[in-house]
Amino acid sequence: THKLSAESLKGMKSARPIAMLTAYTTPIARSLEAAGVPVLLVGDTVGMVEMGFDSTRLVTLDHMRYHIGAVRRGAPETHIIGDLPYDTDRDPETALHSARLLIEAGADSVKLEGPKYEVIRHLLANGIDAVGHTGLTPQTTSNFRQVGRDAEDAARIADEAQGIAGAGAFMLVLEHIPDDLGARITQNIAIPTVGIGAGPDCDGQVLVINDLLGFGDRWPPFSRQYAYLGQTITDAARSFVTEVQDRSF
Ligand code: KIV
Ligand code: NA
Repeated sequence: THKLSAESLKGMKSARPIAMLTAYTTPIARSLEAAGVPVLLVGDTVGMVEMGFDSTRLVTLDHMRYHIGAVRRGAPETHIIGDLPYDTDRDPETALHSARLLIEAGADSVKLEGPKYEVIRHLLANGIDAVGHTGLTPQTTSNFRQVGRDAEDAARIADEAQGIAGAGAFMLVLEHIPDDLGARITQNIAIPTVGIGAGPDCDGQVLVINDLLGFGDRWPPFSRQYAYLGQTITDAARSFVTEVQDRSF
């Protein structure tokens, strides 16, 4: 197997940049594994980009297990991180129970938002590798504006990053913060930072797959579109409709 362990992902900090993408379904996971993407995140963004919810808070452990299973079947050789849904990580015991359900469904590690140091320590003590997430934390915000702009908020986020690394997380997602804060945190902690709207100096970058593919109708300003799948699908469907209607199919 070529599957990377949490330990080897952690070791990439000093070696080479980490390219991470989200995935929610088998065919996408298959394509991403074929492309050599070293780590996939089954994010709770699935609720927003695939299920039509306007918040990640409505995503459940059952939803996550369904999607983690689908991604695992498509990418058997790739490290998969599963997001712990909102409130399923509220205390160490609850989080351990939730994390075990995601691992059983096919995840190699779990990710959780915010300064939950006790939870991270408890997962690790029970053999479950954890990824932290600070900066913008969608489960506990109602707007998606950049955070860490003023000195006080920047210091809070930098402290959280230290705390998350100190608790034993093997990697840290930094979401939607100023470039210089992303750079500073990356320099000051021993685990790799993977940024989404956190500047070019993070140890890696993560994008939501639908944003990268131009699939959907709106994308965050910090994302990049490498294709326009939504338009491709509309064009293909239109051609089909036309050919059925003019009896050329
Ligand atoms: O759920 C998700 O896709 C995430 C990424 C935005 C990092 O947490
Ligand atoms: Na998430």
